[in-house]
Amino acid sequence: MCGIVGYIGPKKPGEVLINGLKRLDYRGYDSAGVAVSSENEIYLQKKKGRIGDLSEKDIPIGKSGIGHTRWATHGRPSDHNAHPFIDCRGEIAIVHNGIIDNFSSIKEELINNGHEFTSETDSEVIVHLLEENYDGDFLEAFKKTVTRINGSYAILAIHKDSNELLVSRNQSPMVIGVGDQENLVASDAPALLEHTKNVKYLQDGDIARITEDNIEIWNENDELIERETKKIEWDAEDAEKGGYEHFMLKEIFEQPKAIHESILGRLTDFNELDLSQYNLDAVQFIACGTSAHAGFVGKYIFEKIAKIPCTLEFSSEYRHSSPSDSYPLTILLSQSGETLDTIAAAREANRRGNDTLAITNVLDSSITREVDDVMYTQAGPEIGVAATKTFTTQVVMLYLLAVEMGIERNVLSKDQADKYRDELRRLPRKVETILNDKEKIKELTESLSKADDIFFVGRNINYPVALEGALKLKEIAYIHAAGYPAGELKHGPFALLTENTPVIAIAVKDQTFEKMLGNIGEIAARDSPVIVVGDQDKELEKLADENYFIPEVPPLFSPLLVNVVLQLISYYTAYRLDRDIDKPRNLAKSVTVE
Ligand code: AGP
Repeated sequence: MCGIVGYIGPKKPGEVLINGLKRLDYRGYDSAGVAVSSENEIYLQKKKGRIGDLSEKDIPIGKSGIGHTRWATHGRPSDHNAHPFIDCRGEIAIVHNGIIDNFSSIKEELINNGHEFTSETDSEVIVHLLEENYDGDFLEAFKKTVTRINGSYAILAIHKDSNELLVSRNQSPMVIGVGDQENLVASDAPALLEHTKNVKYLQDGDIARITEDNIEIWNENDELIERETKKIEWDAEDAEKGGYEHFMLKEIFEQPKAIHESILGRLTDFNELDLSQYNLDAVQFIACGTSAHAGFVGKYIFEKIAKIPCTLEFSSEYRHSSPSDSYPLTILLSQSGETLDTIAAAREANRRGNDTLAITNVLDSSITREVDDVMYTQAGPEIGVAATKTFTTQVVMLYLLAVEMGIERNVLSKDQADKYRDELRRLPRKVETILNDKEKIKELTESLSKADDIFFVGRNINYPVALEGALKLKEIAYIHAAGYPAGELKHGPFALLTENTPVIAIAVKDQTFEKMLGNIGEIAARDSPVIVVGDQDKELEKLADENYFIPEVPPLFSPLLVNVVLQLISYYTAYRLDRDIDKPRNLAKSVTVE
């Protein structure tokens, strides 16, 4: 989604803003711009296209500036619709993330008052409202403006005559970087890390006034308050490619470490969680996209280990479903913690009287304020739009949680629990073995890159992995792919199978293995090329056109290994097709609109 950076201090604002925006470009964008307050004027430069299209040398020296990368919602990508926006007198500039729900009525009112609009965006109303409300006190005008708008927003504004950045947020992240004789603000921490690791996270309804040596914050009741300064544990290099061609490949290779750290990190999380307070008779997973697939794997894990019946719902559907009489524990999964549909689902689950627990990767993200409890995955920053290591760490957290819940419910002995944990501890090594085979996996993708349609099939706990494999391939290789339970192909999709429709079949030696062999035989009989990913087996070798066998692992733990193979398959297929792997077209890293 859109990215915001603001700077006030002695450095060249153009340089700080452009570098900051580059650190946020993984969020996905279609246009970029900056505004700088310089010598009592507002300098503005904005363009459709890449951040690199902005001319840094033309940006004047000034005390403060704001920058933005836009991902179109209201109005197509264009120079006019790019942020920042300035008012009719050229005195105020703003950038905005989110959506202003009541923008049409405000716009009509402002047009009647003589304001001229230059864009099709909802955001532009903010700068005209500020102009309308300004009578010498920029902060007062800003506070007045914020009370007029409804919707989700992170707003950053500057005035040519006042040496300050004004910020507000509601359902859209904003973090202040606390520096030494300089301060910054951004929609996401990577934009700040080059300058400071000390941050203050704004909360919904907050308004902040930032100068180079002071930060004042008012809460939603207009009370001057303190927000704690926290230290970010990772540094700018963690958000760099570190010699890998793409962030996605780097993040795939970071998985052994991420699994290891998630297992270590669990101790603090579980010390703080009191499972006895939850209704553990039923669990409901709610999430979007890859996080939903992690939740779907979690359903199988919880049913097997903790013997808890589970359901999975997409966040965007949950709010419109009918409440049931039961009050399941609701587990919301979100890498970013900013996905608006998932945040709205958390609110709905609370309204229904459920206990709510969020699993997220981002410290203090919006979802953490909506739920009863939070568990953090220890994946580190994930920059590639395609979620990889965060899926893996979400699933690791679910194994660990299921074990704790199994103990709490007296369905799991201490011995069994230790065996499960030992199995988890062995996973990083096994993932490394797969990563070392990357060239072999790359070879599998030669034929895939020529296909227009690809099926992924799995059974039982690997059915959600088939869904995730298909999502990843669509997302980064732009090849149509569908995930199916293997037994379902014959109920319709068989009509599509030809020698040009490869099928990736996940086959592990669980209770479905014999049936899976049958399914693969049926697919092969329709002439579709079959690539098997799963457990070593002679029969599979005979049936499959190509195969990749994962290191030995109990079937319950196979999803993480199989998924790493599928991640590499998607990556190398997209690579062969020369796709924009880290920033696939039309997609954004965190989806902060409903
Ligand atoms: C994954 O590759 C996707 N980019 C997307 O499906 C993502 O998982 C989804 O938007 C949910 O995001 P979240 O985990 O940050 O809530």
